[in-house]
Formats: sequence, C-alpha cells, structure tokens
Amino acid sequence: MIIVIDGPAGSGKSSTARAVAEQAGIQFLDSGAFYRAITLIYIDVNCDRAAFFDALKTYDVTLQFKNGVFHVFLNGNEVTELLREQRVSEMVSEVATINEAREFVNTHLREVVKSGDFIADGRDLGTAVFPDADYKFYFVADIRERARRRFKEMASAGLDADLNQIIANIYERDRKDSSREIAPLRKADDAIEVDTGKMTLEDQVQFVIDQVRH
Ligand code: DC
Repeated sequence: MIIVIDGPAGSGKSSTARAVAEQAGIQFLDSGAFYRAITLIYIDVNCDRAAFFDALKTYDVTLQFKNGVFHVFLNGNEVTELLREQRVSEMVSEVATINEAREFVNTHLREVVKSGDFIADGRDLGTAVFPDADYKFYFVADIRERARRRFKEMASAGLDADLNQIIANIYERDRKDSSREIAPLRKADDAIEVDTGKMTLEDQVQFVIDQVRH
C-alpha cells in the first residue's frame, strides 16, 4: 500500500505523514529529504552540472525511518542534520528542476516502496511518481501559517531561524516548484484536498487515518 501527500512547503505534509506512519505501523518516506540530500552533492561540486551527474552515478543514498526520525546517509555518512540548513533550502528547488536529478530520485523512491507499506510526502507523488497510489492527499495552507510552522520547527531543532527570511524562501520555492517544466507541484485530479491552516497536527493525522480506514 502507498499513501501520498503532496503540497507546498510547510503545509504539514512531513509531520503528518511521519505521525500517521507511527500510528499505523507503516514506513514513512520523505521525498523532499532525498532532494535535499542530492542538493548537498550539488553544492559540494560547486553547482557544476556535469560533475553533479557524474557524482550521482557513484553516490550511494540510503534512507532509514527509525524511532520517528527519517535518517539519510550519503555514502554511509549520516547527513540528516544538514538537510534543513538554509543553504540547502535555498538551492533545493533549483536541483529539483533538473531532469536527471528527478529521475535519480524517482528510481530510488519506486524501488524503496516495493519493500512494504508506505506513506510518502512530496510535490509530484500523486501526479508523476505514484499515479496509482492507493490514497492521495493534497495539503494547502496560508503562506504565513506555513512559515510560522517552519520557524518553530527550525527553532526547536536549534537552527537559526528568521521569520521573514523563511517567508521569502517559501514564497520563492512555491513559485519555482509550481512553475517548473517537469512534474510541477500540482494537485492530482483524484487527490483529496486538505486545508491544514486551521488544523492541529492531531486533526491532520486523524483526517488521513479516517480516510484510509473508510
Ligand atoms: O518537502 P521539502 O521542503 O523538504 O522539499 C524540498 C524541495 O524538494 C522542494 O522545494 C521541491 C523538491 N521536491 C520535489 O521537487 N518533488 C518532491 N516529490 C519532493 C520535493
């Protein structure tokens, strides 16, 4: 079984998917974390596309969902903590426009879900990666609310956070993610739209679980 949640940055997809996974005893797959991990490689090769494509051929990216945390490893080294840094958030949408990067991520995602029941979150899962998903959700929320959530998340992770900078970053990412040519952020026709702006995390989790049980 595969459940997907797509939607713009900070709409509550990841935290909801993580909590549903824990409650339902299934696996969580954070596709954005995958894009963030390969963005570290892109930054590492100074945004040189040819070098980036070569690196993708040799790098081993592994994912592990354990004790409520989605861990990511590059060539065996854990990079989980680096993925939320501002330099990654600023660059990731550019990487997500690169066809080779999307194919690399999609191949891995499709391979990973063969190993059990999953709830995954992203931007194009219901439209492009898993068009036949068993359940599809599309989360939306007002940008200020989304920025406030990201701010809290970063602050509680001990990261430097500036609300105005987060709003600007989310705005820019929404714009890039929705307007890119390949697999833009878009609601799948058969996805259930959920406005999470006034919902608590518990409401969101319950909503998804109720729909899946239905
Ligand atoms: O969910 P997130 O904020 O960690 O995602 C980071 C970026 O990765 C997002 O701005 C666009 C890209 N992304 C994507 O293009 N497709 C996905 N399925 C998931 C993420």
